[in-house]
Amino acid sequence: MAFAQSAFGRANSPAAQALGPYAARDARGIATRKELPAFWRGLARFSGFSAALGCGRANASSARADLNMITVRGAITARSNTREDILLAAREMTEEMLRLNSVGTADVRMILYTATKDLDAAYPAEAARMMGITEASLMCAQEMHVAGSLQMALRATLLADSPKLQSEAEHAYLGGAAKLRPDLAKRFAIAIDGPSGVGKSTLAKDLAKELGIAYVDTGAMYRAAGIFLRRQGVDLLDKEQVSKAIQNIAISIKRVGGDQRVLLGDEDVTDLLRSPEAADGASKSAAVSAVREKLVKLQQKIGREADAVMDGRDICAKVLPWAQVKIYLDASPEARARRRMAELAEKGLESDFDSVKRDILERDLRDKTREDSPLEICPEASYIDTSCMGREEVKEIALGLIRHVSQK
Ligand code: DC
Repeated sequence: MAFAQSAFGRANSPAAQALGPYAARDARGIATRKELPAFWRGLARFSGFSAALGCGRANASSARADLNMITVRGAITARSNTREDILLAAREMTEEMLRLNSVGTADVRMILYTATKDLDAAYPAEAARMMGITEASLMCAQEMHVAGSLQMALRATLLADSPKLQSEAEHAYLGGAAKLRPDLAKRFAIAIDGPSGVGKSTLAKDLAKELGIAYVDTGAMYRAAGIFLRRQGVDLLDKEQVSKAIQNIAISIKRVGGDQRVLLGDEDVTDLLRSPEAADGASKSAAVSAVREKLVKLQQKIGREADAVMDGRDICAKVLPWAQVKIYLDASPEARARRRMAELAEKGLESDFDSVKRDILERDLRDKTREDSPLEICPEASYIDTSCMGREEVKEIALGLIRHVSQK
């Protein structure tokens, strides 16, 4: 395991620690600061709220009226009515609310915590202060008791600066509180990102088989989009043409056995997707935001409907931000070129190391430098360098990460 040190480097990241199996999307309208109900707007903007509660000072930057804000909801159950368990639960819930929405502690404007009557050994807001949320207004209140309702429950509503639309906000219903919102309960998801030729699909297929969940190859969707656009006679480097033409794509995924088939209308194009032209078309069309918007929506729909392992370039941060397991696979360009040559040799095709490596570097550059969702290592992902690893070793490391999460 000489190369495995990097793989486990982030297994103890706050994200891994805060992983909770439940949260999902809401579909309400956009909440800009101007559109927020006056009550919240008042709380967020003026020091009166902080002063009245005596818990925090006014933040000058919170008076900027040009930023979007989102509200995020959370709920969790505590193990017992002790200070330690209340703060632990409040912290887990708050961290997950931030993590799911990529909100930093400095972006939080206010949090309102409530607790059921059976929790009175600590103020949950203390957990937020311990996390370094020092500028936001915090408030705790006891809930009314309703017969038959969830016991030892904490709830939170958090208001934060965020470039997201309100409809993109992710809410965190964790532990025993998941049953409060079964409509928001999220599926089990494993997100794998990395450059081309690094073995993402091999790992994803192995994990899908081992765990009996769906495998979703998002690269195949970009490849199909490239084929569609070429057939429409579109110049793939002309963003305006591409954005217009992509609106008419009818792309869908069908599962046959363990395999994913990609359909354009009624036509199964799966067997056309592995050619160098399809790869080139995919990488060009994947740089156009309108294409990404269409395909990300479809990928998220699949991720909400089935437990899945999904691989691509933007899966951890953008497509499945709620994924319980996030992995970034990497390997040197040389290792990737050697693997690609071996694949081609298996098909009886000769290839030249330098040109295979050049192709790989070109695609890397395009994927890493495009404006929309460039290939990046998501800070929450576990990084695995597979340059000197075999298939089984990579799979065992990934299964170790999955076990780590499921034991929580
Ligand atoms: O993984 P692949 O080689 O089949 O991907 C084909 C192209 O699509 C590649 O250039 C990157 C792009 N892609 C992307 O931008 N985002 C994804 N989620 C998946 C693939």
